[in-house]
Amino acid sequence: MLTRVEDVVRLVLRLLQHDLQISEVSVATEFQDNLPDVHLDATQLQQVLLNLIKNAIDAMSSVAREARRLRLTASFDGHASVLLSVEDSGRGIPVKERERIFDPFFTTKTGGMGLGLAICFTVVANHGGKLRLVKSDSDGSIFEVAIPVGGQHSAE
Ligand SMILES: Nc1ncnc2c1ncn2[C@@H]1O[C@H](COP(=O)(O)OP(=O)(O)OP(=O)(O)O)[C@@H](O)[C@H]1O
Ligand SMILES: [Mg+2]
Repeated sequence: MLTRVEDVVRLVLRLLQHDLQISEVSVATEFQDNLPDVHLDATQLQQVLLNLIKNAIDAMSSVAREARRLRLTASFDGHASVLLSVEDSGRGIPVKERERIFDPFFTTKTGGMGLGLAICFTVVANHGGKLRLVKSDSDGSIFEVAIPVGGQHSAE
């Protein structure tokens, strides 16, 4: 199944429009021209993005309203993957916790299940992709999803 990353990003931003507005998060997007389609069905990519953006919104609840920025970018790595990054200006993830964030049931939130990242990680890995934390410090965090691009359309 081939999916246009840009379409999914726009759809998820629409779904979360209200949450983003009440949380006073400003959003910026940047898509490289002529991005290849990826091998991950749209619903699954939607789930992954929803989880990452919800985490970003949560992480920014503790910073000043005017400093809440979400940035989404998509680019081709030049080889075989589209890189989709989700950057927030939240409180960051303490070093001690970084190695546990992808573990099922690891959460620092009251009422959190701790399943969001674990599920995203598995979904992406099952499609030959990778989900990783690129950076995290007191200025915020960046998560990146690398998703394999599709082959010839005719082979689908
Ligand atoms: N963008 C982020 N900024 C800061 N901390 C984060 C971010 N994303 C995840 N975390 C940390 O990783 C933990 C695990 O995230 P995960 O999405 O798996 O679970 P959750 O958000 O706590 O609960 P759930 O997603 O099941 O509702 C979070 O509780 C939080 O401590
Ligand atoms: Mg979560």
